[in-house]
Parts: sequence; C-alpha cells; structure tokens
Amino acid sequence: MAADRSPRDPSAQPMTVPRFRAAKAKGHKLSVLTAYDHLWAGIVDAAGVDAILVGDTVSMVVQGHSTTLPVTLDEIIYHTEMVVRGTRHALVIADMPFLSFQVSPSQAIENAGRILKESGAAAVKLEGGVSQAETIRALTVADIPVMGHIGMKPQSIHSLGGMGKIQRDEDGLVQDAKAAEAAGAFAIVLELIPQAIAARITRELTIPTIGIGAGPGCDGQVLVLYDMLGLTGEFHPRFLKKFADLRSEALEAMTRYVAEVQAGTFPGPEHSH
Ligand code: KIV
Repeated sequence: MAADRSPRDPSAQPMTVPRFRAAKAKGHKLSVLTAYDHLWAGIVDAAGVDAILVGDTVSMVVQGHSTTLPVTLDEIIYHTEMVVRGTRHALVIADMPFLSFQVSPSQAIENAGRILKESGAAAVKLEGGVSQAETIRALTVADIPVMGHIGMKPQSIHSLGGMGKIQRDEDGLVQDAKAAEAAGAFAIVLELIPQAIAARITRELTIPTIGIGAGPGCDGQVLVLYDMLGLTGEFHPRFLKKFADLRSEALEAMTRYVAEVQAGTFPGPEHSH
C-alpha cells in the first residue's frame, strides 16, 4: 500500500539543532534514520525525516565488520561528507567512532571539530552518560552540539559481554540521561531501554529522547536505514519493523537481468542504438 504521507515540502525550513531540541515542547515526534552516502541521504531527506545519523553502524552494514569498533574517524568523515552533499533539509549528525572521544575531552574536541569542519555535519553523537559528561560539556562549550546515547552502547560490546547486553538498573539509566542533559546534550538516543524506563526518562528530561527498541514513550525514533528497508536479510530483532522488503525486490530484479542477458532478450531493440 502506498505511504499515506507526502514527501517533504521542498520549501520547508532546514532542520537545525535548536529546532530539533524545541520539537519536544511542541509535541512534534522526531523521526531519524541512518544514511551513509549521497544517494540514500537524498531519498531519506526527501521523505521528510528530521535528522540523518551517519552512524558507526556503517562499520557493520556497509563495511561488513561484525561490530561497530573498526570504523575510523577518517571513514566517518568520508561518509558524512557524502551524506551532507545529498541532504537539503534534515539535520546531519555524525557518530564519533570508538576511541575518538574516550581518551580525553581535548581529544574529543579535536576529533569532533574535524568532523564538523571537514564533513559539514551540524552535530556529533557519542555513547555514554555519566562517564562522558565531562566530554559532552567540553564539546558543547566549544560550540559542538552533542547527541548522547545510553542503554545498549555497541562500542561497549566487550565490556558488557556481547551485542544487545545493557545495564538494566533503572536509577543508573536515569542518572546517565540526566548527566548527558546537564552537560549540554541537545538530544539523547535511548537504545534497547525497557519502555517504562524510557518513558520515565522522557518525562524527566527537557531534551528530546530518540528511541531504538525503547518503546513509543520516547520523543522520537531512530532506525538503521538498511534494516528498516529490509535490505539486511536475516536480522529480525523484536524492535525492528521492516517497512519494505528491498532485498527480495533487488534480488528479483538482478536475477531477471542475469536471465535476460543469458537469453539474449536484453538489450532489446528499444535499448539499442
Ligand atoms: O550507529 C548507529 O546507527 C546508531 C543508531 C542505531 C542509533 O547508533
């Protein structure tokens, strides 16, 4: 069935960090998707999402690694540049890769500064609450807008003991969220946080919460683009709704192409000079 919403009005004002932050008070539910290149960023932008996240999931869904740890700062800058070139309205946020901000606040400022200067992104995202509060503060004092990220933190896969493992203590999660807000974060991702806790955090913060697997009580939602389009095959976590089955459609188109080339029916006269 066709989507019941029209694509973005091309005359709409571009999303900015202050507008994104203010959306919560206006009751506007924020939609965020990841993208990693110019072509998909253009489609995501035209669909009307509020923000495009150049996630470190690029390490898994584009580069083929089994975790988010290997992607480098230079690679994030490379992908973010492409996304910025394909985006007219959405806010572009780049993920800070593993060990690009954990060493010290000054390391974080240098690396986040490179991301903003070299890619054109408007903000960065980093994983951590209480443990990264000093760094979030240092970045925001340097006028680098920061989105926080708590709950399941894929960069902590080894210390947590595996993908999908999260700290489940409610008070600890609330403290993490409040520490990120108090340090100056303009929004925060809540990943795989039980929905009742995510709803409590959402009520207790003034900045927008963007959930992934954290239920409907958040101020917005984020999904990995290739997952929600059904391109990533056998990945079926409970929180993921596949809005399309592009993997099957692409496979069907490509196998038809192979068959037509082999049968000599493509190119036909209408495709030949
Ligand atoms: O890297 C990423 O894509 C993310 C989202 C899943 C929130 O952090």
